[in-house]
Amino acid sequence: RYRGLDEAERTARIAAARETLGDDVVVLGHNYQRREIVEAADFVGDSYQLSVEAANADAKYVVFCGVTFMAESADIITDDDQTVVLPSMEASCPMAGMAEALQVDSAWAEIDAATGDRTVIPITYMNSYADLKAFCAEQGGLVCTSSNAADAFEWAFERGDVVLFLPDKHLGENTAHDMGIDDRAVEWDPWDPNRDTEAAADADVVLWDGYCQVHERFRVDHVEGVRAEHPDANVVVHPECRREVCAAADVVGSTATICETVADADPGETWAIGTEIHLARHLARWHPEVNVVPLCGDACMDCNAMRQVDPNYLTWVLEALADGNERNVVEVAPDEKRLAKVALDRMLEV
Ligand code: 13P
Ligand code: SF4
Repeated sequence: RYRGLDEAERTARIAAARETLGDDVVVLGHNYQRREIVEAADFVGDSYQLSVEAANADAKYVVFCGVTFMAESADIITDDDQTVVLPSMEASCPMAGMAEALQVDSAWAEIDAATGDRTVIPITYMNSYADLKAFCAEQGGLVCTSSNAADAFEWAFERGDVVLFLPDKHLGENTAHDMGIDDRAVEWDPWDPNRDTEAAADADVVLWDGYCQVHERFRVDHVEGVRAEHPDANVVVHPECRREVCAAADVVGSTATICETVADADPGETWAIGTEIHLARHLARWHPEVNVVPLCGDACMDCNAMRQVDPNYLTWVLEALADGNERNVVEVAPDEKRLAKVALDRMLEV
């Protein structure tokens, strides 16, 4: 039923299903989703904006076009009588899998011992699973996204002495840099049995050794290359990029900040976009008056996880809902949900 649909037919079928569902459904789309998804969504934004939209949504069904950890967070934040649907269950962010709650739990005592009698507060990036968010809540910590990491650090330092930042070491290091404490940050490689635990004894920030496979591929020579090709180019990158890439850029921020930066640009300005390729393409379409170029030139920084949300799957889940069938429901276990909500609520309050 869903193979070989051309775009016009698919758009018409999505519209028909939505007409049947009326206000019962809201479709949220992350900035990295494909053009067809972004065009079908009611709200498009970064992880933080979408979590706020999910929290405020009245609809019975929240169809989340993003990756699994985002849909889980939407389920945690929405009311019990709302149902969250993810068009593809294959859409899992590899970085979220780099800090599994069981693994962090077993590292916790070691990190605690290494940091001496100082209090460690865990902060997990939104890009993590519900059980890790629950673990952080239990240990007195919270969640953050790329748009509020510095606020989360401040919250943590008001309550403790050391931040354990999970899973993205680059976002953690870039945030520590913005706060002027990156020389007080050390990495914690959970896979290395010979790791230097002594280094944590004097650190203010312990960075779990996780990373985004898309953003880690940006290098300083991409920045230099784009400036050589476009001498007037401004460069904006996501804080999941390496520290040296962020240092070489003009602006660093979440996908919402990247969108705002290009929206605020003067006509004729050149902006090189250092993030997932679909957002760079959307920005070029949305702002034809600005010269938007991908930072990586022809090399395609494509997030495979986000790409799993095929517009045909969106059609499938919407038509199923219109027929009274719930497909691909994302539901977090009640105990985990209750605790993870504490960590997410702390972020929303911050
Ligand atoms: P944002 O929160 O900036 O949208 O980023 C989410 C993400 O997965 C970046 O890789
Ligand atoms: Fe995960 Fe990176 Fe994809 Fe974002 S871009 S969803 S961090 S793999």
